Amino acid sequence: MLKTAKLQKTDSDIKKAAHIIKKGGLVAFPTETVYGLGANGLDAVAAKRIYEAKGRPSDNPMILHIADISDIYDLAEDINDIEIKLAEMFWPGPLTIVFKRKPCVPDVTTGGLDTVGIRMPDNETARLLIRESGVPIAAPSANTSGKPSPTRPEHVLNDLDGRIDAIIYGGMCEVGVESTVVLAKKDEIVILRPGKITADDLKNATGVDVRVDSAIAIDRPAEQIAYKSTKQNAEDCDFKPMAPGMKYKHYAPDAQMLVFRGDESKVKEAIKSKRASLEAHGKKVGIIFFGNDNQEIAAHELFDKLREMDKNKVDFILAGAVSEDGIGYAVMNRLLKSAGYNIEDI
Ligand code: TXA
Ligand code: MG
Repeated sequence: MLKTAKLQKTDSDIKKAAHIIKKGGLVAFPTETVYGLGANGLDAVAAKRIYEAKGRPSDNPMILHIADISDIYDLAEDINDIEIKLAEMFWPGPLTIVFKRKPCVPDVTTGGLDTVGIRMPDNETARLLIRESGVPIAAPSANTSGKPSPTRPEHVLNDLDGRIDAIIYGGMCEVGVESTVVLAKKDEIVILRPGKITADDLKNATGVDVRVDSAIAIDRPAEQIAYKSTKQNAEDCDFKPMAPGMKYKHYAPDAQMLVFRGDESKVKEAIKSKRASLEAHGKKVGIIFFGNDNQEIAAHELFDKLREMDKNKVDFILAGAVSEDGIGYAVMNRLLKSAGYNIEDI
């Protein structure tokens, strides 16, 4: 059991945190999306400690966080014009670009892939920490593997207190869902994980066609995703998303969960009547309802609400869908995963 140092976003505490990173330790820190669990991404031993602390499968690659665009040239090669354009347009910000990696990036960090995901976070504390550490910081979300990503420092401590060296407190994350992950070819951009930066944003910025990796599209036929409620991962079926992390059971609350999608007033009615029947059977019910058009608020609060449900030990969560435009697509991706794709269209 480690003593996890509780640090503030002051210059002297950021220096302490950077010292821990330089020595091969683990520091949780705020970003604009979710809290990250950071270590020196070029140090295989340090990076391996992240997987151990999170209980994360070792084939799931980690994102390297940088503080200046020019840092990509130390880490990636064969960089194309579209990748540069995306970095210039969207960094610092919630976009991870998957590049061909240079040999200096260890296998542990990339899960053995010959590519590396890189992003420059739009959070000053995060960038100061990276600069002060003098290395790219490998950081997955700072949660126990399988749990909702942390959007508050308390979430991180619930999962990892005593398993990491330090945390920097930085309040609640603004965006609330993780970065958009993309693979950018010269003539096509593929979204490997949806986030705040949408297909339209990417298309408008580059003029290049954008598609969503078909393995993660949220309108996949139900039979193709049926395995999800029963299996921990998809090794033994044909579900092979290009971002390995998307195949794992994720964001899972302890309770069973059902999402209703459709006209807002009908969804409210459906939740009300389902709640009554569950409560009549002695079940403790929790509700997650943002309204169809409150996608940004939904993104900001979804993971916090899911964790609240666990804390309140509810047996059943009834949720309302949000519209799939803008960040709503990313919200629905997370909501459906949380619910094991248990959705009712009404
Ligand atoms: O917003 C975020 O991206 C947060 C903050 C901390 O930056 N990080 C985060 O990391 O969500 P993580 O490890 O929880 O999720 C990274 C996702 C996974 O689905 C992983 O499989 C994918 O990105 N990924 C990372 N590197 C990749 C690569 N080289 N090729 C394909 N997918 C990659
Ligand atoms: Mg994660």
